Amino acid sequence: MGAYADAFRRSIEDPTGFWAEAAQAVDWTRAPTTVLDDSRAPFVRWFPDGELNTCHNALDRHVDGGRGDQTALIYDSPMTGRQARFTYAELRDQVARFGGVLRSLGVEKGDRVVIYMPMVPEAVVAMLACARIGAVHSVVFGGFAPRELAARIDDAQPKVVVAASCGLEPTRVVEYKPMIAAAIEIADHKPDRCVVLQREQARAEMGPDDVDWTEAMASAEPVECVPVGANDPLYILYTSGTTGKPKGIVRDNGGHAVALLWSIRNVFGLEPGEVWWTASDVGWVVGHSYIVYAPLLLGATTILYEGKPVGTPDAGAFWRVIAEHGAVTLFTAPTVFRAIKKEDPDAKLLEQYDISKLRALFLAGERLDPDTYHWATEKSGVPVIDHWWQTETGWPICANLRGLEPMPIKAGSPSVPVPGWDVQVLDPEGNRVGPNTEGAICIKLPLPPGALPTLWNDDDRFVASYLSAYDGYYLSGDGGYVDEDGYLYVLGRTDDVINVAGHRLSTGSMEAVLAAHPAVAECAVIGVHDSLKGQVPRGFVVLKAGVDVDPEALSAELVAAVRNEIGAVAAFKRADIVPALPKTRSGKILRRTMRGIADGRDEPVPSTIEDASVLDKLRPILTKES
Ligand code: COA
Ligand code: AMP
Repeated sequence: MGAYADAFRRSIEDPTGFWAEAAQAVDWTRAPTTVLDDSRAPFVRWFPDGELNTCHNALDRHVDGGRGDQTALIYDSPMTGRQARFTYAELRDQVARFGGVLRSLGVEKGDRVVIYMPMVPEAVVAMLACARIGAVHSVVFGGFAPRELAARIDDAQPKVVVAASCGLEPTRVVEYKPMIAAAIEIADHKPDRCVVLQREQARAEMGPDDVDWTEAMASAEPVECVPVGANDPLYILYTSGTTGKPKGIVRDNGGHAVALLWSIRNVFGLEPGEVWWTASDVGWVVGHSYIVYAPLLLGATTILYEGKPVGTPDAGAFWRVIAEHGAVTLFTAPTVFRAIKKEDPDAKLLEQYDISKLRALFLAGERLDPDTYHWATEKSGVPVIDHWWQTETGWPICANLRGLEPMPIKAGSPSVPVPGWDVQVLDPEGNRVGPNTEGAICIKLPLPPGALPTLWNDDDRFVASYLSAYDGYYLSGDGGYVDEDGYLYVLGRTDDVINVAGHRLSTGSMEAVLAAHPAVAECAVIGVHDSLKGQVPRGFVVLKAGVDVDPEALSAELVAAVRNEIGAVAAFKRADIVPALPKTRSGKILRRTMRGIADGRDEPVPSTIEDASVLDKLRPILTKES
């Protein structure tokens, strides 16, 4: 039996044996004697009596083990023209000091800290400092507007917010402090203090509850790692669900450390001491798992890149970073390669760089279309590895396991289920379907270590969202099929979550913004195909009776509202006025049908439609190019 088949079988037939072995790669202050507690199923706990500290595993133990002088983090910022390197010893010292800053502000084990920062090393320092003192971080992506930040502050109830004065986008400086002030104004919960890293591009005006990062660090006492229970939360990361209210994905300490260490070796094939680059943002799960935690847990060198694939300064930027720092892997989203390909179709800029150290490109976060796959393979000259996972799961569910046993690659498929994930495609009745038959992609419980144990303060929503559709299964929200060789094909979300340039967004939250406009009676937002971003949102609004507005002016107002309330990152650029929205007889808007027509598919008219003429009138609007 091959290494993959053997590992997969063991992980499903003997999960406790499999994960007990993997857990030996972690330093425990108290080794777990129980591997899996499923006495409260569907809630399960991995390593329930284990104790550890994730920051110790990511930093101190490498310093103690002789890696103190090895570079842990390379900061490369074409946005500022700055580069910096931090050894494991330097990063540990900064983190220990910032742990002292947080402590001095009253943050203790179990307290939450919201981190709202761009791609600067201090964001990593803040995350690890929380882990060091047993506090729970919740990083909020810098592209989210105040209302989204406020929703997260209200749910997580942080004692302290850690922020930078600004983020840098190619065309503008994004001032964070006014957005934090606006968010705190909107939120019911008021954090005690805000630590601000002043950046020279836009210094923040400080208030009485604000603390200057640099000053606080200068006088802080370094702190040691605090042992925490394996099931104590390490972080909360909010992600878009189908409603406007984001879901607080909880990650625990023990299972997370075990799973990430296993994955970075076996899925990604990385060795300690190697240089690894994940080009994402610390505000997303990819940033949490594969910019910060996994490479540091392994003792590798991680690159933190503050820039874009194009325009900073050109489409050669990614090749430059790989070459300059000797990265052996790059992990990013397919949209990045679509952007590079658009600007530099023949990859002429690559000729300036030596990327011979690169072993593989890993792409995830959205569907990897075969065109982009072939282009990236041809130009980079290395295997391009699609892998499928979610914020909820924390690490890959399906992948080509480069470290364990590389397999043939099939364009359009993220390959096979990773050990630990019993992936099954189910029909609406919950029966497993045969090869090449579409259905809901589900995972048979229990989920492996590292996957979400629940939603923050909301066990009921956890069960309702993920575990109630099919008894004994986790519902991924994606549809797809498995072929005769066991390769999975992900066809897209079956709910109202969309993926814009690798950013996961909820159409429901955009609809809430549109519906709040005084002229709007009803609305629908759908994700339509976009050749660069994969998907972009489009809005359709029905006016209130008797309202007379200029369509262009209304569209501009709605676009501005989504930008202000959700963020520019939503890329909401267009809203059309329509006479009515197509609905089922029970009043459900037929978003899926609308999406199919907008994407040019030959979409059947559902038999449940209330009035087919509504859809006929909508067709030309849906198919109209922007
Ligand atoms: N803070 C503030 N604003 C942000 C932001 C941030 N962190 N990130 C993006 N934005 C803004 C941008 O400035 C832009 O604003 P604009 O409408 O004023 O131009 C808007 O949000 C959309 O940004 P972006 O998604 O970057 O689109 P783009 O058209 O500027 O660039 C790509 C297209 C493909 C180059 C870009 O989307 C990209 O690099 N995508 C990869 C994303 C990624 O890594 N995702 C995680 C994958 S795992
Ligand atoms: P996020 O939680 O932001 O990581 O987004 C997860 C969603 O992105 C998944 O549910 C999928 O819809 C989509 N996704 C992630 N990776 C892939 C992939 N390799 N192929 C297709 N879709 C993907």
